[in-house]
Amino acid sequence: MTEPTVPAGPAGPSPDPARAGRKDEHVRLAAGQQAALAAGAGPRNDFDEVELLHHALDGVDPAHVDLTAAVGPWRWPLPLYVNGMTGGSVATGRVNRAIGIAARATGIPVATGSVSAGLDDAAARATFTVVRDENPDGFVMANLGADRTPDDAVRAVEMLRADALQVHLNAAQETVMPEGSRRFETWAGNVAAICAASPVPVVVKEVGAGLSGRTLARLAGLGVTVADVGGRGGTDFVGIENDRRPTRDLAYLRGWGQSAVACLLDAPAGAPHLLASGGVRTPLDVVRALALGARAAGVAGRFLRVVLDDGEPPRDAAATDRAAARLVEEIEVWRSHLAALHGLLGARTPAELMTTDVLVRGTVREFAALRGID
Ligand code: FNR
Repeated sequence: MTEPTVPAGPAGPSPDPARAGRKDEHVRLAAGQQAALAAGAGPRNDFDEVELLHHALDGVDPAHVDLTAAVGPWRWPLPLYVNGMTGGSVATGRVNRAIGIAARATGIPVATGSVSAGLDDAAARATFTVVRDENPDGFVMANLGADRTPDDAVRAVEMLRADALQVHLNAAQETVMPEGSRRFETWAGNVAAICAASPVPVVVKEVGAGLSGRTLARLAGLGVTVADVGGRGGTDFVGIENDRRPTRDLAYLRGWGQSAVACLLDAPAGAPHLLASGGVRTPLDVVRALALGARAAGVAGRFLRVVLDDGEPPRDAAATDRAAARLVEEIEVWRSHLAALHGLLGARTPAELMTTDVLVRGTVREFAALRGID
């Protein structure tokens, strides 16, 4: 196994230092949030308000469960994927390499972080393409912001030989980010143009503030067939960007938006196929999301924590191999637990979970009542 061929240091061009520094900071701050959540310092999230009714005679043998998930035009081997996170610096290239190795070993679909840096900066490219190099035949999604052009979208797909293109909507993050973009009015038109130009299906996602029912209806009208609701309750990008502001004056916006659970309840008839992410902590959260209508669930922060070593990206190729092995082990545990939970709930496939009896409590119930959802 080789390291991403990113020349670091004076011997050759390095990724743009300001952008690379930002990517490293995102990983460091997201890791800090995960550590706080793991220590129980974080709030419960809306998945805790979703209870699945137990029926004692309904179980099926886990050996008879087929975890294949039907998402848009695809068949994924399990209803789980590694969501878009990173790339753009030497250290984050190692994180991506570990994700690529784990993807090949487990068959799990994966996404890179926003490949903008790789399009604009040749030195950063290998920190993204390493995901494809390590995983030549797996399902890989490239990721791009909604402010980019259709031509950029095509280049992003070509760069990774991507099977899908994630386009992220992140107005709350950009609002708080010191160097954030504010050209929000162009996004809907860009999404439609990117869908029309992209050689592969587009998955529109939020990064942690959720996609409302109205947004999902608009996305369907723009030609989007798969959407990841990316709700609040997990990695909080408003918090991350606020911590990067010298004044930290937008702390009160932490937790902006809706949770994945609320978004799944709010989704209108005719919405794109739904993916759920944001605060997915365990295989039980995946199953809860599937019971609420998601086709699969995405995990970012939780899996990042596994790849990092004491909160730090791998330092060299050997450490990257060890990080990949930890991630493989974690994904295999999730696969086996998912089969067990499907069996417990009497579902032979992820699609069968959609008829599970679900109770929602607390603030989610209040949200549903206020939105007129029964
Ligand atoms: C992200 N996320 C993200 N999303 C995206 O669409 N493009 C990106 O470049 C990034 N970058 C990024 C970096 C890091 C370090 C993390 C942890 C996350 C957001 C991610 O895909 C997901 O939507 C949120 O993290 C919420 O999911 P979790 O972390 O609660 O599972």
